[in-house]
Formats: sequence, structure tokens, C-alpha cells
Amino acid sequence: MDQHMSKSAEEWRNTTLRNAREKTAERQPSFVTSSNIDVPPLLSEEDQHDFDAQERLGFPGEFPYTRGIHPGMYRSRLWTMRQYAGFGTAEESNRRYHFLLSQGTTGLSVAFDLPTQMGYDADHPLSVGEVGKVGVSISSLEDMETLLQGLPLESISTSMTINATAIILLSLYIAVAKKQGAEVRKISGTVQNDVLKEYIARGTYIYPPQHSMRIITDIFRYCAEQLPRWNTISISGYHIREAGATAVQEIAFTLSNAISYVQAALDAGLNVDRFAGQLSFFFNSHNNLFEEVAKFRAARRMWAHIMRERFSAQDPRSLMLRFHTQTAGSTLTAQQPDNNIVRTAYQALSAVLGGTQSLHTNSKDEALSLPTEDAARVALRTQQILAYETGVAEVVDPLAGSYYVEYLTNQIEQRAWEYIHKIDDLGGSVHAIERGFMQAEIEQAAYNYQLALEKQSAIVVGVNRFITEQEERPILLRVDPAVSQRQVARLATLRERRDNALVQQKLQALEEGATGTANLVPLIIEAVEAYATLGEISDTMRRVFGEQREFRSIE
Ligand code: 3HC
Repeated sequence: MDQHMSKSAEEWRNTTLRNAREKTAERQPSFVTSSNIDVPPLLSEEDQHDFDAQERLGFPGEFPYTRGIHPGMYRSRLWTMRQYAGFGTAEESNRRYHFLLSQGTTGLSVAFDLPTQMGYDADHPLSVGEVGKVGVSISSLEDMETLLQGLPLESISTSMTINATAIILLSLYIAVAKKQGAEVRKISGTVQNDVLKEYIARGTYIYPPQHSMRIITDIFRYCAEQLPRWNTISISGYHIREAGATAVQEIAFTLSNAISYVQAALDAGLNVDRFAGQLSFFFNSHNNLFEEVAKFRAARRMWAHIMRERFSAQDPRSLMLRFHTQTAGSTLTAQQPDNNIVRTAYQALSAVLGGTQSLHTNSKDEALSLPTEDAARVALRTQQILAYETGVAEVVDPLAGSYYVEYLTNQIEQRAWEYIHKIDDLGGSVHAIERGFMQAEIEQAAYNYQLALEKQSAIVVGVNRFITEQEERPILLRVDPAVSQRQVARLATLRERRDNALVQQKLQALEEGATGTANLVPLIIEAVEAYATLGEISDTMRRVFGEQREFRSIE
């Protein structure tokens, strides 16, 4: 046998590698991933001695889905290229959606402004300065009809990034589909509807947790019965990661939240296989390429076991973790913005190698403002080049069997389970959030990363290394400040024109339903069809549910 082959990995480490290190020191004292997992200089077959590939990997399209949820994955169907977009008025956003569709995007993704997310109409005092700023302003069915003008709701799937007011936006979407004459049971899309992560990381919540969970499970029940192709929730790790969490924390906290949602639906009397196939997830694709690929694979395997062993789900669709990915906004830099195109491309590669079902690639200027058309086009082209030119979409789970990727997948899974068990011990996500446990863990991780940046053990090209002194400021997209006035005027006209007696009747019926146990979706559909506004509906529920204040910090 060749003398090189006889050497064991251990011998290689203790001789060749050690000699090499004595001759040339390694670039840094240690190498770790974002989750502080040790990165060894080399892994080999010996490091997989206890790895049961059949049990841990299986095949794509089969339990535990480590290698992907569909047998053929992208050989049968590419991921959905779903660019998140929305700003200003419904007209402006509608134009952007038609532009993106003309450029080849294959799914819609609506961004709403903060007033819409927080349950305030454009003319509410708290909306001043925010109308149309970080997303589109939607206060009424009239706005929603404009937003979706000319878009075939029976054939295009639409994601709506909306949480506390998800039940209202879903009702508005259904009302527009009905007006378009679409067969409502055929419409497909997603509402994010994940308020637990809003308590943890993003902050756009309105009601106390137990009332938010009721609203969420009302959506589960309604869609199970009326909207079989609608994804009722997009349980999100993206924002948790953006808040500073590690890859392990991202999937651990997301899966813990998912466990709480499933439990809440079971407590509401729903059968697990009746709703679980309509749950979906949303993850971040960050900078460490192999850690991100391993993270997605570990998450699929964990979810399959959670649903089979913890909730006794039988339907294979209940066991499949279907997810959307967005490349990491927090890694975008204002300095040398063209570098963001490269970062986004690598992050998109991780998402595809990790088996995502749907993908948003960030635009290079998003660290500075809303994406311009040109920047949004390049972001979409990044996906199209990945899909059609690199070959990575032609083989299923190509990194399987890699000593390093399987090591990382196992390490991430093991550490994520430790977090999930800790959160179980705290009584589940809601209690853990109320105690500030996840928030504290994320703050610590974020602090550690900031320290690494300052010590330059974490390099950000163009920011703390390879800096360009004089930089041209890129062209930025600014929202027209007149948006607010236009929206306020439209609302005033609407309020005069509509049947206000009917609106009051529908809002009264909603208030009675919220006080009782009626499913709120049908009541809200009737209210929006009478042109009750998002703010009026939200205020009706505020009167019944109250509002959630800040959570106390961990004891
Ligand atoms: N073989 C066979 N069938 C396949 C297949 C394959 N390889 N790939 C896909 N399919 C089928 C699916 O089974 C599905 O069939 P169905 O319609 O009969 O169910 C159909 O093709 C469509 O596939 P998907 O459902 O997987 O793809 P979608 O894109 O429609 O859905 C999702 C993906 C993840 C399930 C869905 O929840 C989704 O689209 N999520 C998007 C969420 C999103 O865009 N969020 C944006 C957040 S932005 C934000 O939060 C704010 C910012 O600050 C970050």
C-alpha cells in the first residue's frame, strides 16, 4: 500500500501538521464558526466512526429529510425566486411587483410599512413619518386591490411579511381574490404570522402572548378548512439571527417557537396532521458557508424527529421542514456596496446547497435604503446565475458525506437540542420569552461578535480591513414624502364614501367574536369587505385583548 495511505489521520495531525505549524504558524490562534464550534484543520473518515449515514442521512424525500424534502429537489423544480419588495403607496409597490415578474421572479413577497404592521392606519398620529417608509402602506381593501392589481392570484404565490396584523392582511387578500373571481381554495401564499419572534427580536407585536396565540391558531383552523394551499405561518429564525444570534441559536429558538405553535394548535383542538403541512419556516443565510449549509440540514432532521416523536404526526407533509431563506441583511455594508453583491452570492449559494424552497437575495444598497430597480435586478440575476450556470441545482444535497459538513451538521444539531431542552425546562418558548431567556442569550452572542470585530479577529472587508478612503455615494431610492398626504386623503375619502352603519355593525360583531371563542377570520373578512380599515379592526381587538408592554428582563 502507498506509504501515504497507511498513515492514520491522528498520525498525520501529530507529525505532518505539527511540523508544518512549527515551520509556519497558523493565521490565528483558533478557528471557530459563528456558533463557536471548533473548526479543525482537517477531518477524515476516522472522524465519522460513529456516524450512521442510513439513520442520520437517509435519502432526499424520505425521513428524516436531512438531504432535502423532495426526492428530485431542484432537478424537478427550482426554488422560488421570491424577492421581498414594497414601499410607498400600493401603486408604487404594484409597479415593482410587475417589474420583478418581468425580470423572472417566480413568487411575490410583500413588505409592509410599520403602521400597517402595528395596526395603525396611515392617518393615525403614530404613523407620522413612517407611512410607506420600510414597506407599502395598506389601510383598507381599496389599498389591497391596488396592490394586487393585474396579479393573477390563482397562479402566483404571495408571501406577506406581516405578524400582529396577519389575520387582517390575510382577510384583505382573500377579499381581493374573491373580487377577482378567483377560486379562493386555489390561492397560495404565506403570512409570516410569527409573533413569538417579534417578542424576541423584532418588536412588531400588539397583543399579549395568549391572545396572539389565539389569533394565530384561528388562522391555522380557518386555512385548514378553507385555504388548503395557504401557508399559515412562516416561523422565523431570520430576525433572531439578525439580532445577533448564532446559527445554533437561530434554529434552536425557531424550532422551540414552532413547538409552541404546534402545541397551541393541539390545545385548540386541531389534529396535528390537519394543520402541520401548512406550517413553513424562514431562515437567514449568513456568511459562514459550510455552517449555514449544515444548519439547514440539521434543522430539517430535527423537525422531522420533533413532529414524529413529540407530536406523533403521521402525514409525511407534517414532518417536512419547508423554508424560505433571505441572505443576511446584517452582513451588508454601507462601505464599498459592490462587495454586498459578492456576499449575497455566497450566502445564496449556502441556501441552495442547504435545500431552501424559496429565496430572497438582498440588494447591494439595502444597507443604505430601499433597493433601487437596478440593485433589485442584480440581486435576482444572482439567483438566476446560481440556478442556470453553476450546476449546483443539478444534484441533490451535493455536500452530503463531506467529513466537515456532516461534522458541522451533527455539532449544530447537538447544540440546538441542548437549547431546546433548556427552553422546555423553562416551560416552553412563551415562558422563556417572558423571562427574557432567549433575548439574554442573543445579547451575549451579539456582544461577543462586537468584541471580535474590535479585536479584528472578525474581519469585515471594506469596514475594518481593505478600506477605501474616498467612496462615491451610490444612488439611493427615497420614498416620496408626499406618500403620507396621499394616503391620508384617500382614507378620508373612503370614510366618507363607505356605508358607515355597516362598518360599525361589522366591527361590533368582531368585538363580540373576540370576546367569545368564534374564529376571527370570517368576521374580519366581512369587516374588510365593508371597507372597515386595518386600524379600526386592530383597535376593536385592542379593546378586547389589551396591548403587550415590554417584557421584564431575565430574573
Ligand atoms: N419536486 C416535487 N414538487 C416540488 C418540488 C420538487 N423538487 N419543489 C417544489 N415542489 C412543489 C411543492 O410541493 C409545492 O406543491 P403544492 O403547491 O402542491 O404544495 C409547489 O411545488 C411549490 O413549492 P413550495 O411550496 O415549496 O414553494 P413556495 O415558494 O410556494 O413556498 C414556502 C415556499 C417556504 C413553503 C412558503 O412558506 C414561502 O413562500 N415562504 C416565503 C416567506 C417569505 O418570503 N418571507 C419574507 C420575509 S422578509 C422579512 O421577514 C422581513 C425582512 O426584514 C427580512
